[in-house]
Amino acid sequence: VSSAEIERAADVLASGGLVAFPTETVYGLGAMVVEPDAVQRVFAVKGRPAGHPLIVHLGGVASLDRWAADVPDAARRLGRELWPGPLTLVLRRSERVPAIVTGGRDTVGLRVPAHPVALGLLAALDSRRPGEAAVAAPSANRFGRVSPTTAAHVHADLGDDVDLVLDGGPCAVGVESTIVDLSGERPEVLRLGAITRDELASVLGSTPAVATGEARASGMLPAHYAPAARVVVVPEGDDVGERAADEVARAAGLGPVVLLAPSVVDDLPAEVVELEPAGPPEDYARVLYDRLRQADRLGAAAIVVVPPPAGGIGDAVRDRLTRAERGRGSA
Ligand code: TXA
Ligand code: MG
Repeated sequence: VSSAEIERAADVLASGGLVAFPTETVYGLGAMVVEPDAVQRVFAVKGRPAGHPLIVHLGGVASLDRWAADVPDAARRLGRELWPGPLTLVLRRSERVPAIVTGGRDTVGLRVPAHPVALGLLAALDSRRPGEAAVAAPSANRFGRVSPTTAAHVHADLGDDVDLVLDGGPCAVGVESTIVDLSGERPEVLRLGAITRDELASVLGSTPAVATGEARASGMLPAHYAPAARVVVVPEGDDVGERAADEVARAAGLGPVVLLAPSVVDDLPAEVVELEPAGPPEDYARVLYDRLRQADRLGAAAIVVVPPPAGGIGDAVRDRLTRAERGRGSA
């Protein structure tokens, strides 16, 4: 991405348009926070219910107090240590944030993305609209579907409904940011991501709980991140190869099957396509959404998946797979 393209994208945002841009996690569909009509268009383009709040992207921790109120010390420390990075902090919103951005809540999700294109865009916006450079951006996919990790994914999902797409190459992390709610009594993790609970603990002094039930459900649907094909997660246990082969055989009754797994099954039936997530959980996270999309393009009826081991970003991948399993293909 050239600096001329970034300048052009900043012009589009500053005049109330929509720009899709890369972050280190996934691509976002951005609108200026202070342009409610543009934010409204983000909801319309995504097909997203109005009560589902957007994450606000900032150029640096220095602008935290413009967009959040009553900022606790823990938020400042997390921002200083882990931003720019794949971490969203939920804080009380300042009156500068229009209600449409937060789905009517009195809290706002804020993050400073660690991608040079995203940071360049926010800096260019700040020179056009000083003090107003905050970009509300959900993942740049239609609601409920798999997040985009390349510019091609964005084009495939949103087509002409977005004014400009900045192509920053494939996203390095591949799954959405960790979300920590700091607006209550104690910090709570609302969504797992690349920033682990251990990393949070090293800044906060204790390990934050993972929210369950109501708190989590309020902004997070159990079925989400879903490809069109039915996702079947191979259950945990001994001899994963045998269990994966069993699930493949069962799923074959539905139609074409894609197996998403490190090579654990010998003697796969010829018609089963094997896509390898390969290697450490970080690599698995990076390719996950592209593999799910690939399976859809291949016309798979089912995707049988061997998840990565628990721990670190493996937990985030497992969380997304569980939601995908409950998603559209299995509905
Ligand atoms: O990595 C990411 O976070 C990506 C990139 C583009 O930054 N963005 C992203 O946005 O994943 P989206 O809209 O697809 O997911 C935002 C999540 C939703 O589950 C939403 O409910 C939650 O953040 N969220 C946002 N603001 C919130 C708030 N005030 N309270 C609770 N949850 C909030
Ligand atoms: Mg999303």
